[in-house]
Amino acid sequence: MPEVRAMAEKLNVGGQGSPFAPEEAEILDVADLTALEKLFKLRLAGGKNLGHAPGQFVEVSVPGFGEAPISICSSPTQREAFELCVRKVGTVTAALHSLKAGDKIGVRGPMGRGFDVEEMAGNDMLFVAGGLGLAPLRSLINYVFDRRERFGKVWILYGAKTPQELLFTKEFESWRKQPDTELMLTVDKPDEQWRGTGGVITVLFRKLPKLDPKRTYVAVVGPPVMYKFVLLETLNLKIPRNRIFCSLERHMKCGVGRCGHCQINNVYVCKEGPVFRFSQMESLPESFA
Ligand SMILES: Cc1cc2nc3c(=O)[nH]c(=O)nc-3n(C[C@H](O)[C@H](O)[C@H](O)COP(=O)(O)OP(=O)(O)OC[C@H]3O[C@@H](n4cnc5c(N)ncnc54)[C@H](O)[C@@H]3O)c2cc1C
Ligand code: FES
Repeated sequence: MPEVRAMAEKLNVGGQGSPFAPEEAEILDVADLTALEKLFKLRLAGGKNLGHAPGQFVEVSVPGFGEAPISICSSPTQREAFELCVRKVGTVTAALHSLKAGDKIGVRGPMGRGFDVEEMAGNDMLFVAGGLGLAPLRSLINYVFDRRERFGKVWILYGAKTPQELLFTKEFESWRKQPDTELMLTVDKPDEQWRGTGGVITVLFRKLPKLDPKRTYVAVVGPPVMYKFVLLETLNLKIPRNRIFCSLERHMKCGVGRCGHCQINNVYVCKEGPVFRFSQMESLPESFA
């Protein structure tokens, strides 16, 4: 397609400095987290800092297979490498799963807006994650633990469908050892070995102590069916709407506000989100669908 190539060159699509030009990243390590999810440790050329905020994502490309948006799941305090937790669901993610340490992939980003850690500093934190939602939230959780003295009490509520689908289980012990921190788990379908809570994530709200709504920030990540009900629970706790942050799940392509795939009304979720305040979401009813 020479005309398309000529047009792309004219518009500098994919050229140096273009938002469509990926940087090369080397896979340093690949670890199995569950039957479907793998954790990739990656490094940009020369150990360049990715410079992300928790909640941001990158567009990951595997030559010959395409590109997919994936949340950065490591804390920005980890500067020379970053991590992605990838669930194998289709073409690109299956291609990623076939790669090993030493292989190279393309990365564009960091993209979008994440959690405002400066605004959250000095407050108590309530984290609520459903399923794969723990991946982006882990970036913020580990940031808070790496800057523990800057934050108050921490509650982490995490739910998955089954015990086998819980992510980052090896980190639970170190999270529990953090001062003033409580980790609460639930699974929708407990098995015979499961000793914890059973049921959907909202059951964990019954176990929370009394929070101070004026000094608590909430960060919610999960599928729309989960965050719809979780947001109602947070309102029951009387937490002001501008202190409740939620990451929206939309299909994305370009990641830079050009293609319209992620659009809700006049909002490009890839650019203005994926993290929004509840107070902003209320003017976007589609975000609950
Ligand atoms: C901001 C953002 C952050 C994300 N973070 C992560 C993450 O940390 N880890 C992770 O594993 N996945 C994440 N996803 C979802 C991931 O982008 C999709 O699973 C991926 O694009 C699927 O690509 P594929 O080629 O493997 O699948 P395809 O072959 O394209 O499709 C397989 C299935 O995946 C669904 N799908 C395709 N594209 C998307 C998309 N953009 N978003 C959601 N579902 C899609 C399709 O409906 C289909 O059911 C994120 C998505 C967004 C928008
Ligand atoms: S993904 Fe293209 S505009 Fe958001």
